[in-house]
This record gives sequence, C-alpha cells and structure tokens, in this order.
Amino acid sequence: MLRSFFIALSSNRPFRRFAERSALGRRVSRRFVAGMTVEEALDAAARLNAEGIDVSLDSLGEGVREVAQAEASAAVYHQLLDRIATLGLRANVSVKLSQMGMEIGPTLAERIVAGIVQHAAQTQNFVRIDMEGSGYTEMTLDIAERLHARFPGAVGTVLQAYLRRTADDTERLLRGRVRIRLCKGAYKEPETLAFPRKADVDDSYMRLMKRLVTSGVFCGIATHDERIVDELRAFVTANDIDKRAFEFQMLYGVRRDLQRSLVRQGYRMRVYVPFGTEWYPYFMRRLAERPANVLFLAKNFFRT
Ligand code: FDA
Repeated sequence: MLRSFFIALSSNRPFRRFAERSALGRRVSRRFVAGMTVEEALDAAARLNAEGIDVSLDSLGEGVREVAQAEASAAVYHQLLDRIATLGLRANVSVKLSQMGMEIGPTLAERIVAGIVQHAAQTQNFVRIDMEGSGYTEMTLDIAERLHARFPGAVGTVLQAYLRRTADDTERLLRGRVRIRLCKGAYKEPETLAFPRKADVDDSYMRLMKRLVTSGVFCGIATHDERIVDELRAFVTANDIDKRAFEFQMLYGVRRDLQRSLVRQGYRMRVYVPFGTEWYPYFMRRLAERPANVLFLAKNFFRT
C-alpha cells in the first residue's frame, strides 16, 4: 500500500517540481543522493574507492521530453567519463534511456547512448543501461544488444527478477555475452507481467543469481537483501566459484555496514552513486522500497 503510494508520487510532475526546488527537499535527498554537482559525485567516488569499493555514477534524470535536454544529459556523462579517466577513479557510469530521449523516440535515445558507449570504449570504461518500467524492457534489451555488438564489453544492462519474462531474457543476454546487473525491480507492474508476492520475487532472484554467477559472464548482483547475500556466499563456497567472477552492487547510503563487511571478506563491491538536481523520482523509489525510511528521515531532520 505505502509502496504503491510512493511509486505513484515518484511520477507526479507538479510535486516533483516543487520538491526539487525546495531547500528542504535537497537537504532530505542527501540520504540517498551524493550531491548536486559532478564534483561532489567524484568526491564521493574517491572516498568509496579509498575504502576498496568501486562505483557506478548516475547523473539523475528521467522522462526527458526535449531533444536539447537529452543532449545536455549526455554531455554530463561525457564529462564524467573524461574526469574518471583523468582522476584514475575505479568508476563506470549508469544511464537511463528515458533520460536520453526515449520518450521522444528510440532512435534518438540509441544515437545518444551510442555516443556515450563509444566514449566509454575509448577510455576503457563501461556503461550500464539501467532498466526502467516494463514498457521499455524489450527496447532496452534490443539497444543493449546492438551497442554490445558495436562496442563489445563497453556496455551492459539490467534485468529485474520480479518480471516473469526475466528467465528467458537472462538466457538471451548470456548467449550474446552481454553483462547483466540483476536487481529485484523498482517499478509498479501488473500481475500479468510481474510476480506480486515478495517470496516469489526472492525465489526468482536466487535462481537467476545462481545461473549468472556460473555463466562465465561477469555479472552484478544488486541487492541489499542479507538473506540473498548469505545464500550466494554459501553457494560460492560450496561450488568453488571465484569470488572475483561477479560483484555485489548496492545503492549509495543503503546498508553501508554490509558493503564494508563484504569488502573485508574479499568480495567485489560496487556502489551506485546518484547525483544531480533531478533527484526526486529516484528518491521516491527508495522510500517505496522501505517506507521505514520516512521515519528515519523525520527523526534525523528534527535532530539537526
Ligand atoms: P528488498 O527490497 O527486499 O530489501 C531487503 C533489505 O534491504 C531490506 O529489508 C532493507 O534492510 C534493505 N533495503 C532495501 N532497500 C532499502 C532502502 N531503500 N533503504 C534502506 N534499506 C533498504 N531497479 C530497477 O528497476 N532498475 C534498475 O536499473 C535498478 N538498478 C539498481 C542498481 C543497484 C546497484 C541496486 C542495489 C538496485 C537497483 N535497482 C534497480 C533497485 C532494485 O530493483 C530494488 O528496488 C532495490 O535494490 C531494493 O531491493 P533489495 O534487493 O535491496 O531487496
């Protein structure tokens, strides 16, 4: 119920405009967002690198409806790739197709993302195409496959364990050796497309994760769910799988204790570091995942 409420709020444009412009909103967003500027994000990446944690930088923005805005979003990614190379950071980037003009047209979005992937290939870096709502799934996979064929190893995408189609999509991407980040899924989807029960989503996640870590294609296991993390640790040990054959991925500001503990145990960890002034939809999805965060935020707000 609360999950649906926050997911619905995440796409409310008037509320988004109001929140993103208010000083209070920016302050509260700090819980999950590394800052408003490229420099703040790079600082956060350097701090995480110093703790043995790799990073994926996300310049926040989605649902772009003007070509100039999509081009401006891409320019930030080009700047990021250059700055990562100059600073020698262990960081790649994550992009959303709807930020690159998908709502205007898939051809535009593909052209813009291709420019970013080409830049990443030239700087020995990597672009992850995030997965959005199910209306985009097929187009996202098509684009990721085509870009992977043009720039092998410089691009990968995300699959969501809550979607019923994901077992097939996993085999499809593995056949082409496209790198996959596995997550549970953060959007509101109908029962015809997604498992409605958390237990089924978790079962699907565990099955897919085991398939991925034994596939021979490097993959990202993106979850904060300690039960799943423990299951994978046991599976890796029992099957003598190299700990470096995959990486755990977690979100900035979420389960920092678990992030550090896994690094100490010799696992690879990558933290997704979002930044920028368009933090609102991302932030609302984080509240949807764990409504207790609202209480946490309120307590900290009144304490400061
Ligand atoms: P689950 O939601 O079951 O939570 C398990 C436990 O983790 C909770 O009990 C709590 O302890 C902790 N936790 C989870 N979320 C928390 C939060 N917001 N605040 C505090 N604690 C929290 N989704 C998508 O649809 N497309 C995408 O491209 C991506 N990309 C992505 C990248 C990375 C690196 C991560 C970690 C996640 C994503 N996601 C995503 C989001 C993902 O689909 C999912 O919504 C969240 O990761 C929450 O699911 P968990 O697997 O953490 O488990």
